[in-house]
Amino acid sequence: MKIRTLDDLQQIGQEGTELLYPKKTKIIVGLGTCGEATGAGEVLDAISQEVENQKLDVVISPTCCIGFCQKEPLVDILQPGWPRISYGEMTPERGRELIAALARGEFKKEWALAKIEQEEYLVEDRVWRYPQDSPPNELDEVPTYEQLPFYKKQRKIAMRNCGFIDPENIEEYIARGGYRTLYRVLKEFSPEQVIAEVTKSGLRGRGGAGFPTGRKWDICRKAAGDIKYVICNGDEGDPGAYMDRSILEGDPHSVLEGMIIGAYAIGAREGYAYVRAEYPLAVKNIGRAIEQAEGYGLLGENIFDSGFDFAIRLDRGAGAFVCGEETALIAALEGRVGEPRLRPPYPAQSGLWDKPTNINNVETWANVPAIIARGADWYSQYGTETSKGTKVFSLVGKIENTGLVEVPMGITLREIVYDVGGGIPDGKRFKAVQTGGPSGGCVPEQFLDLPVDFERLTEVGAIMGSGGLIVMDEDTCMVDVAKYFVDFLRRESCGKCTSCREGIKRMHEILARVCEGEGKDGDLELLEELAEVVRDASLCGLGTTAPNPVLTTMRYFRDEYEAHIKEGRCPACVCKTLVSYYIIPDKCEACLICLRNCPPEAISGGKNQIHVIDQSKCTKCGACFDVCPPRFAAVKRISGEPVPAAVPPKERVLVRAKR
Ligand SMILES: Cc1cc2nc3c(=O)[nH]c(=O)nc-3n(C[C@H](O)[C@H](O)[C@H](O)COP(=O)(O)O)c2cc1C
Repeated sequence: MKIRTLDDLQQIGQEGTELLYPKKTKIIVGLGTCGEATGAGEVLDAISQEVENQKLDVVISPTCCIGFCQKEPLVDILQPGWPRISYGEMTPERGRELIAALARGEFKKEWALAKIEQEEYLVEDRVWRYPQDSPPNELDEVPTYEQLPFYKKQRKIAMRNCGFIDPENIEEYIARGGYRTLYRVLKEFSPEQVIAEVTKSGLRGRGGAGFPTGRKWDICRKAAGDIKYVICNGDEGDPGAYMDRSILEGDPHSVLEGMIIGAYAIGAREGYAYVRAEYPLAVKNIGRAIEQAEGYGLLGENIFDSGFDFAIRLDRGAGAFVCGEETALIAALEGRVGEPRLRPPYPAQSGLWDKPTNINNVETWANVPAIIARGADWYSQYGTETSKGTKVFSLVGKIENTGLVEVPMGITLREIVYDVGGGIPDGKRFKAVQTGGPSGGCVPEQFLDLPVDFERLTEVGAIMGSGGLIVMDEDTCMVDVAKYFVDFLRRESCGKCTSCREGIKRMHEILARVCEGEGKDGDLELLEELAEVVRDASLCGLGTTAPNPVLTTMRYFRDEYEAHIKEGRCPACVCKTLVSYYIIPDKCEACLICLRNCPPEAISGGKNQIHVIDQSKCTKCGACFDVCPPRFAAVKRISGEPVPAAVPPKERVLVRAKR
């Protein structure tokens, strides 16, 4: 069936509503990549088996990441007359028990993470309230999603449907107001009005540079030529970042709808979705979404009988970080080597096949339908003076709640780390947060109250980038961190310009030397000089921002660099060459645990004999340190000080007796 009218759309939406909220119990399993990685597939199998054993008449449905990756696998249960209940950290056994309890008319209150009493349909300004006619009183004790600290400060706009719909079903997207904005745009808006609304909203590109989206569309619309293209940049190569992957997996139609609206505004009839091949589920879901949209006539010729034609092709990126850079991406799409080229001309003037091309990031596109639906003023109420709306961050590293968080711009780093993220595990101290991907910067504790927006992050030497946030605690060596990111960039540099190819390599060599205790006087000055050249002389953003991790760590943690170079000491005890392990004789309980876990068998001792590490055999893997029971804490990690002499054999048996 081709959807031509609003009635058609509503009819399909009705079918979607029946899928979203069926009249019988529905079991929803989070099968995004994060869910799958933690065993959601096995949980699904166990649940399906138990449903069969219990002969339950229920619906089992997949969804993708709702953001709370720390609690994956997640399973939600929706019973008629009840709010939707979310269960976290599910296992196959728990899955089976949950279904058995369901069959007895019970719910496992002790496993319930939260309940959802209502869902906001952002593009329709409508709220779905779950009917609550028969839930038990104990359900009152389960917090709502909004009460969970992880969600309290979040505002989901780009991720509005993620975790709420089955991404395999276009009908569910339509039920939540999907493609209605496109209908309105094609029937009521001129292209100029669309651009004006997007411009007024203050939306800036979410792929890194933060260029105003409306302005870019306007430049492309006004560029000479009849043939124009739009591209969705789903390359996302930053280590630790997965915002775009989750949107493509969990709500691909929001990206498609954004692209169709953008294409209409710009005057393009063809578009490309470029998604990295290492994201198989994202590739599958956006591919299926394109087919479904074509099936309903939402892509193709004469969409909604408006006379507007638009088609989208899916292209898979082979996994080079630099291919996320717009001109390199365009080269890759054209079948050439994925290397950036000099700008201008910018793609908006001359891009794919030398035609005006508008390229936006996945998250940027996903925001568009919500902005048009609810208006620029609604969107720009969130954020700061210069950075409007929300931003999705992938919050990872040394943090209690890892996950995808969508927060209003202007929120402070402290709120993200402590309120949303739940703080640093094991009572450790916060040290820094790395923002903006591999070429971002490390922001230290003194800036925890910095409001997060494009400008403020740049002021402290970091960047917003595409939204990676890696939290580091006191056990992180900042020189090692700089080395890690520079190593990544060294490997990912395409090599086209000498400053980037050679400069980053030289910076990495110096950092590696410093980490090995071979740093020399003048290394820091040389690093600064190289950083300047790489930044100023490189062609694309990979090179121009590559020095950020080095410059920010040198700016805020210079004492750590100096300790490595001048004292041969790694203050965080991370750099292997500068670290030693030894066993404190008075604390050793001769429990044999470290001895049994030492891969090079460098530890000697026995049941009643305190243990000793043979320094000549120790590979400094740290296994002894990790396995020594905390109540003994007998293994000590030191750096920059001599290892105390080993206990003479005669004294080694006496330790236990002494206690
Ligand atoms: C090395 C490098 C990698 C990049 N990778 C991505 C990426 O994976 N995804 C993305 O959207 N933008 C990436 N960008 C930014 C793009 O060049 C471009 O600015 C962006 O796609 C424009 O979309 P936006 O205006 O919606 O942000 C990268 C830039 C550089 C320099």
